Amino acid sequence: MLARAGWNLLRAVLGENRETDKRSLTSVEHALWQERQATMAPRLPMSAPDISADDIAAVVAVLNSGTLALGPASLAFEQAMADYVGAAHAIAVNSGTSGLHLCVRAAGIGPGDEVVTSPFSFVASANCMLFEGAVPVFADIDAETMCLDPAQVEAALTPRTRGILPVHVFGQPAAMAPLGEIADARDLVVIEDACEALGAEYRGRRVGTFGQSACFSFYPNKQMTTGEGAIVVTDCDRTAAAIRSMRNQGRGAMGAWLEHEVLGYNYRMTEMSAALGVSQLSRIETILATRAAAAARYAVGLADIPGIAMIAAAPDTTRLSWFAAIARLDPWFDRDRIIANLANRGIPARAYFSPLHLQPVYRERFGFRGGEFPVTEQVARTTLALPFFNAISRDQIEMVCAQVGAVLADERASGRA
Ligand SMILES: Cc1ncc(COP(=O)(O)O)c(C=O)c1O
Repeated sequence: MLARAGWNLLRAVLGENRETDKRSLTSVEHALWQERQATMAPRLPMSAPDISADDIAAVVAVLNSGTLALGPASLAFEQAMADYVGAAHAIAVNSGTSGLHLCVRAAGIGPGDEVVTSPFSFVASANCMLFEGAVPVFADIDAETMCLDPAQVEAALTPRTRGILPVHVFGQPAAMAPLGEIADARDLVVIEDACEALGAEYRGRRVGTFGQSACFSFYPNKQMTTGEGAIVVTDCDRTAAAIRSMRNQGRGAMGAWLEHEVLGYNYRMTEMSAALGVSQLSRIETILATRAAAAARYAVGLADIPGIAMIAAAPDTTRLSWFAAIARLDPWFDRDRIIANLANRGIPARAYFSPLHLQPVYRERFGFRGGEFPVTEQVARTTLALPFFNAISRDQIEMVCAQVGAVLADERASGRA
């Protein structure tokens, strides 16, 4: 009975539309089914994973194989990722957050240690220090790259600084040459948050190869997906061995299943996710080229609209890996009202990162106030994310740009901008 209820609920959420199914739904299931039908009307999404028939076949093959964890798909995905990034080791984990945590732990960063990082990021890139009792020390960003400003990093160093954790925001590489010089001069560890930047290149070299370790996330809004999941890459044998062990409950490479050498976690990736990863990675260059073409269309579409422009590759960015369609608005616009007005016209648009130092958890712990990282705060106030996914068509992009133009024209006409 319970099993049937669970199955019905799943079908309701998935929106299956067979009469016989509908008749057997409870009222809760029916409400879910109705909501799902409403949201299934053709509508432009903000982002959407790109799942091919081959991807589905790869996951089904794993399900049929009976090996759902710690199997050949994970090994194949790790090898393919190491080859793609150009790193000696790749370790599959179940999220970017767990991957970053293991990078910090493997670097021996612990209580009281300081790591300089960006306040313009997703919260996991700073939380991974808090997990270990270490202190994320924020340094402001460069307005053009939206990544750590090396001069600000230099100013944030103290005798307790142990590392630098740059974030390659929106697929734009951080300034790895000056950051590397700062780190070398003080013997600091560098951990790259490359969660949004698979395939991005800085001065002709792939991100993920600059730090002691780096992490790429495959959450469904990323360039490629494994559902949930991530890969940590490193050239350091010791770091790789430590991360492999810690993601698997602290087991040793040769040790027994019931023997735990160090404190570990269950941060393993499933075989289904790894198989999806192998399949997606096999067409990553096509995916990145498709996304670059869509971003270029947005740039053209927004070019004639006063007060807005797409972000662009910085001079040292030899490849921006397009994670999202991010436009910057002139500061006098009310970005949130523009988002609401676009929604009224059927166009989804979003703010992006809210500065980390202003998040309640960080304000409460560290007493941060507005105004402490002015570039981050200004960039956060003026970024506008537009719908972006592999299958977005030329017509859809033109339609979005036309609506953005109309909304901004209204703002100007009403004297609000
Ligand atoms: C910059 C950045 N860091 C870390 C993460 C965390 O990755 P995940 O969601 O896979 O835990 C994300 C992604 O969401 C991210 O965008």
